[in-house]
Amino acid sequence: MPVQALFKPFQLGALELPTRVVMAPMTRSFSPGGVPNSKVIEYYRRRAAAGVGLIITEGTTVGHQAANGYPNVPQFHGEAALAGWKKVVDAVHAEGGKIVPQLWHVGNVRRLGTEPDASVPGYGPTEKLKDGKVLVHGMTHQDIQEVIAAFAQAAKDAQSIGMDGVEIHGAHGYLVDQFFWEGTNQRTDEYGGDLAQRSRFAIELIQAVRAAVGPDFPIILRFSQWKQQDYSARLVQTPQALEAFLKPLADAGVDIFHCSTRRFWEPEFEGSDLNLAGWTRKLTGKPTITVGSVGLDGEFLQFMVDTDKVAQPASLENLLQRLNNEEFDLVAVGRALLVDPDWAQKVRDGREQDILPFSREALMSLV
Ligand SMILES: Cc1cc2nc3c(=O)[nH]c(=O)nc-3n(C[C@H](O)[C@H](O)[C@H](O)COP(=O)(O)O)c2cc1C
Repeated sequence: MPVQALFKPFQLGALELPTRVVMAPMTRSFSPGGVPNSKVIEYYRRRAAAGVGLIITEGTTVGHQAANGYPNVPQFHGEAALAGWKKVVDAVHAEGGKIVPQLWHVGNVRRLGTEPDASVPGYGPTEKLKDGKVLVHGMTHQDIQEVIAAFAQAAKDAQSIGMDGVEIHGAHGYLVDQFFWEGTNQRTDEYGGDLAQRSRFAIELIQAVRAAVGPDFPIILRFSQWKQQDYSARLVQTPQALEAFLKPLADAGVDIFHCSTRRFWEPEFEGSDLNLAGWTRKLTGKPTITVGSVGLDGEFLQFMVDTDKVAQPASLENLLQRLNNEEFDLVAVGRALLVDPDWAQKVRDGREQDILPFSREALMSLV
């Protein structure tokens, strides 16, 4: 199967990508003080130089006091961090690549003691107490408005420093997904209830982002069935339910859906080979990004449990077949690109034997 399908340009409105290879967002925790530095700039530049068409940055926090959950995560607010990101944008553009930040609020996953203000607890749809202490602050209507405003501001800032769009992190059990999922949203007001009601937060957030950036600035939404709190969780069980879930999000302003799965070849529903990105494209008519173990023989959560596991390079045959069939438009690659900045170039040149395996060790440095 020829690899050319991965290296055809993609266009959506003003967004023109030189190739279909997308770098998946991956938290790297190499930004002390929340500011992306020269090593981070070089890390992204190298991927763009070697054929990645669109870089989705690691999750970068919006300007809300409880947005961050982990040390050394870059932020997407404040002069120093935005100046750092501007240098990343310029470096990626100089190589002919495109880049969007993944805008992130971790929600109830945050713990007391986390940067930048250790006294701020997690914020989530539903309050959680432990031994009489607030572990998670249940968000008030005012909190909801403040977080939405922080996402809109971040999107505006992304536009002003030359980013090519934004990705809203609505996946993996972080704040936006915590509203989507019944396991974390037990609200009894208009932000809770059935999935349509639990989507209200995301819809208002997307509408606010759209209003902040105007009609032509691409908005990508990443969503997932699985949650870090429960890998087997599902928001929807049928294509009809998926359609009902996605339509209001598309209407609110999403241009591209990034459908996060851990193994791209798994059928989403019985009776069809289509994966989540395939169904999403079919049901919404919007372009989609697939992801999950592209080019590797083990999935990404495995190495958390089995720390000695090495994921070996794997055939792209099945992926290319699906891309050729237009099941999805773009292909996000995570660990294969984390460990090997030249992954896309090697694939393009047919140098499979030079592609590097992935192990946890790769997380220790920015290459
Ligand atoms: C080290 C690491 C950090 C990650 N951080 C993020 C993140 O910040 N945001 C996100 O949406 N997904 C994150 N992910 C998930 C990846 O974007 C991707 O969906 C996952 O690794 C599957 O792709 P892969 O099998 O090609 O690695 C992370 C994955 C890894 C390995």
